[in-house]
Amino acid sequence: MPSAPSSTPAWKQEPDVTEGTERATGRTAIVTGASGGIGAGIAAMLGRRGYGLTLTARRQDALDAVAADLRGLGSPHVLVSPGDLADEATPAAVVAAHTEAFGGLDCLVLNAGVGSAGAIGSYPRHRFDKTVAVNLSGPFELLQQCVPLMRATADPATGRGARVVALASITGRYAEPGLAVYGATKAALISLVATVNTELSAEGISATALCPGYVETDMTLWVRDRVPAAQMIRTDDIVRLVEAVVDLSPQAVVPEIVISRAGTSGYEA
Ligand SMILES: NC(=O)c1ccc[n+]([C@@H]2O[C@H](COP(=O)([O-])OP(=O)(O)OC[C@H]3O[C@@H](n4cnc5c(N)ncnc54)[C@H](OP(=O)(O)O)[C@@H]3O)[C@@H](O)[C@H]2O)c1
Repeated sequence: MPSAPSSTPAWKQEPDVTEGTERATGRTAIVTGASGGIGAGIAAMLGRRGYGLTLTARRQDALDAVAADLRGLGSPHVLVSPGDLADEATPAAVVAAHTEAFGGLDCLVLNAGVGSAGAIGSYPRHRFDKTVAVNLSGPFELLQQCVPLMRATADPATGRGARVVALASITGRYAEPGLAVYGATKAALISLVATVNTELSAEGISATALCPGYVETDMTLWVRDRVPAAQMIRTDDIVRLVEAVVDLSPQAVVPEIVISRAGTSGYEA
């Protein structure tokens, strides 16, 4: 096989899944925020590894493009279920679509998120509500509705677990001026992940919060004048960590991974 150009992210190189492999592994995942950025990278990695996928985000055209790419890389079982995570109806619709197509769930990737900078003193209430809805309430609803599916799938006795991977943020761990609301939602997500482990890990369902500093995606375009893209964490770095986590046995619980940027104190985005 010819080698891919060096600019191609590692998770897109050397597709090693042929049609039918997903049926052989029988593993499936739901990925939120899969229409771009980190979520699209995670979806591609899981698809390459043979997971049947349900992809969700608001933009159907972007989801369709990601799904078409994945099929081109050898992932035949990719479902698109668009919706706004701030809408109360979305989690149920996504879970219903996934259940009908696949019947079980090995991996729930809570990746969709929004954030905007603003001082506490002047942060508008409507932006607070939207950030909480997308970053916390929606993920909680989706998680809650996925627990029965993951319970039905996980069987620690046979070495099969189910994983939740949540994209939190380093700001959820270390407060940063101007990021109060975003950071608060991410801190809550980290706490939610920890509770999943206390409640469900004995049943083979465990969760990991990834807490990166600035990653080179559209979300960080606003800060590029201060932090150049070359100094940001690569999407591929996050994808590789997710890949490592989903490969662990159900006996290994990883509550949290902080990824800081080289050249910083390690306690800042
Ligand atoms: N980039 C960073 O520096 C960084 C650092 C730490 C943590 N994170 C976290 O990593 C996750 C992914 O971020 P990213 O950098 O990949 O950002 P991104 O490129 O802006 O992607 C965000 C994703 O979330 C989806 N989304 C946004 N609002 C939504 C809504 N209301 N309902 C459903 N989906 C929605 C977007 O799709 P649609 O627009 O199609 O809805 C998109 O797929 C986020 O949770 C973010 O907070 C990012």
